[in-house]
Amino acid sequence: MLRMLVLGAAAGGGVPQWNCNCTGCEAARTAKGQVVASTQASVAVSADGIYWFLINASPDLRDQIAAQPKLHPRGLRQTPIAGVVLTNGDVDAIAGLLHLREGAMFPIWAHRKVLDVLRDNTIFNVIPESRVPRRPVAVNVPFALTLPDGQASGLEIEAFTVPGKVPLYAETRAADPTIGIEAGDTLGLAIRDAESGATAFYVAACAAVTPALADRLRGADLLFFDGTLWRDDEMIVAGLGEKTGRRMGHISMSGENGAIAAFASLDVGRKIFIHINNSNPVLRHGSTERHIAEAAGWEIAQDGLEITL
Ligand code: MLT
Ligand code: MN
Ligand code: ZN
Repeated sequence: MLRMLVLGAAAGGGVPQWNCNCTGCEAARTAKGQVVASTQASVAVSADGIYWFLINASPDLRDQIAAQPKLHPRGLRQTPIAGVVLTNGDVDAIAGLLHLREGAMFPIWAHRKVLDVLRDNTIFNVIPESRVPRRPVAVNVPFALTLPDGQASGLEIEAFTVPGKVPLYAETRAADPTIGIEAGDTLGLAIRDAESGATAFYVAACAAVTPALADRLRGADLLFFDGTLWRDDEMIVAGLGEKTGRRMGHISMSGENGAIAAFASLDVGRKIFIHINNSNPVLRHGSTERHIAEAAGWEIAQDGLEITL
């Protein structure tokens, strides 16, 4: 069985974000509106329900583990977290690795580019390679996630490139021309239960749905997909910043080039938006935008959501 646990549903900053009082953040903070607080995006996956692998390590990981009994230690010094798979090098995907110090042994699987970020930022030496081996992931080559004793976990991963961009801190110019490139900076994952073949896709950052990506995801049983913004200029209109979703490497939910339109005829069994920014009106229960997304067959992820395939 493929078990998935949403540890966090929000985009970078979370809901509410520490320095934001937009309508979504305010509602989440005061509980006056219909917005549920959420932590930064990550899911845990397991085949046996005993050992879990993290897909990304969010800055909220410490709280996410505390909130989730399945991830609590079962011995004096023990963890059911058997490894981490990273899809990109953004702060909201890797900063949580720093919470995983204190001596545990587990591997990290990531694209060579992300492993280079870990190598070049020596703060990550708190999880030294002697205990936390770093395993490069080749795209389009399935690999098995292994348990601490070297046995197969029952899960396989296949990583593939999606249109994305380098992490914000690695950008070298204001109008970076490389947005939307497929150079390994942003990966999607197919997560497969080796026994049953049940497969889920995790694509929490994606600048566009290309024909190749549409072909890959057509007919999937379960898809977690980039739900950062409702519309491209949403943060500008709300006075929250100067960047469009496109500039940040994120497709929008709405619009003719948006995710809802892109998946309308792809027959995905269960479509769940994740990595949802606090500015996104779908977070508000009862909003028109949430109704539109749900009517199109989408779910809005929430921390603690559990799915078994
Ligand atoms: C993003 O998803 O665009 C990034 O997480 C932004 C950031 O690094 O804050
Ligand atoms: Mn992000
Ligand atoms: Zn906000």
